[in-house]
Amino acid sequence: MILSKNIKKKGLNFMKIKEIKEKIKIGIDKIGFAMPKYFLDIRDLALGRNENENKFVKGLMQSEMSIAPVTDDIVSLGASAAEQILDEEDKKNIEMVIVGTESGIDQSKASAVFIHNLLKIQPFARCIEIKEACYGATAALSFAKNYIEKNENASVLVIASDTAKYGINTPGESTQGAGSIAMLIKKEPKIAVINDESICQTRDIMDFWRPNYSDFPIVDGHFSTKQYLDCLTTTFEEYKKRYSQDLTDFDAFCFHLPFPKLGLKAINSIFAKKVEKEEKNKFLEKFHASIVYGKRVGNIYTGSLYLSFLSLLENCDNLKTGDKIGMYSYGSGAVCEFFNLTLVDGFKSHLRNDRLNDFDNRKQLSIKEYEDMFFEKIILNEEGNCDFSNNRFIQESDNAFVLEKVEN
Ligand code: CAA
Repeated sequence: MILSKNIKKKGLNFMKIKEIKEKIKIGIDKIGFAMPKYFLDIRDLALGRNENENKFVKGLMQSEMSIAPVTDDIVSLGASAAEQILDEEDKKNIEMVIVGTESGIDQSKASAVFIHNLLKIQPFARCIEIKEACYGATAALSFAKNYIEKNENASVLVIASDTAKYGINTPGESTQGAGSIAMLIKKEPKIAVINDESICQTRDIMDFWRPNYSDFPIVDGHFSTKQYLDCLTTTFEEYKKRYSQDLTDFDAFCFHLPFPKLGLKAINSIFAKKVEKEEKNKFLEKFHASIVYGKRVGNIYTGSLYLSFLSLLENCDNLKTGDKIGMYSYGSGAVCEFFNLTLVDGFKSHLRNDRLNDFDNRKQLSIKEYEDMFFEKIILNEEGNCDFSNNRFIQESDNAFVLEKVEN
């Protein structure tokens, strides 16, 4: 809205534009989620690894892990998540596709370029991949918001896509997962506004990393959880100081969820002891709604925070227009950010209320099937090709896209 002030003079009539251009609201207009068709019950993993099942069920608060066959990679999952939400009009307006991932399929070409082609998005778009462990998609959101501030009618597609593999019989094995979140970012969004207040923190630490010479990440698990929590408390303190805000300014919190119990520790760490039990219970109720999906998928790295947000929106009856959601993003290495979203009028009608059916319709694997499936690699023949077109995983998939072939 432009406010103007007329300065009337005899004969001449000048207009003074009085600066004020009300900031456009930018945020999440649509959100989709895709996961593989298969899962492993976490109790079967405990049995297979000779662990007490309560360590995983209660100690990590995990119940299932999403298992991706070789035909589901970050491109097919990312494109499938986006295909669920985009219509032809959206595809004409998308000017940028950004994929946050730490399971890239190519050192050089961005997965966003493949996804742009699969979705048939208009050609005059920028397509890139962002990497900083589980933080990448949050950086993508910020980039998208800045772009739309300067290009009001543009949309940006942000995708968080990962397969989290720690390897057999490792401490991280019980926190694996696979899945993808797609978010359409535009002005006047139908779900949530991304507000300006945010604080980031960077620490050069080795808590979790995956160098080129290793198929699996190298993880200092306990150190990583300490860093996650310490980054949260120090960043949130700085946020409160810089923006003169407090817990009372928020209606709910969503956290990056490597495993749901860490989210519970996160919420406990930011609640000062003085907070009334009743007040804290309100947040805990919402927290439990935010882990419904994560408990059944496992860690999906870049998408975990946004799956937690989707889970909160679709499983909590106590949210309303104007509610402010605190968001904590953490990527090992480490970069974190605390920012917030505001729910907009009518947000509920742009979500699903039957998504749990998708979880129930997955196929359960035995531990042997999981080991064979999750760790299968692409093996090229002598000509440098590989063909999965007759693979049963392709026939069984409910997703819009799968990897069919690798051709030299
Ligand atoms: N009944 C109930 N609870 C039990 C139990 C039982 N029989 N046995 C153990 N537990 C509890 C433990 O007390 C512990 O809970 P608390 O932390 O609340 O005390 C929990 O189960 C796990 O037990 P351990 O700590 O002994 O488990 P572990 O050492 O084998 O593995 C882990 C835990 C280190 C987190 C491991 O899962 C791991 O390495 N995970 C990968 C790294 C990770 O997720 N880090 C998170 C921060 S980094 C990040 O956020 C980026 C990212 O996504 C990777």
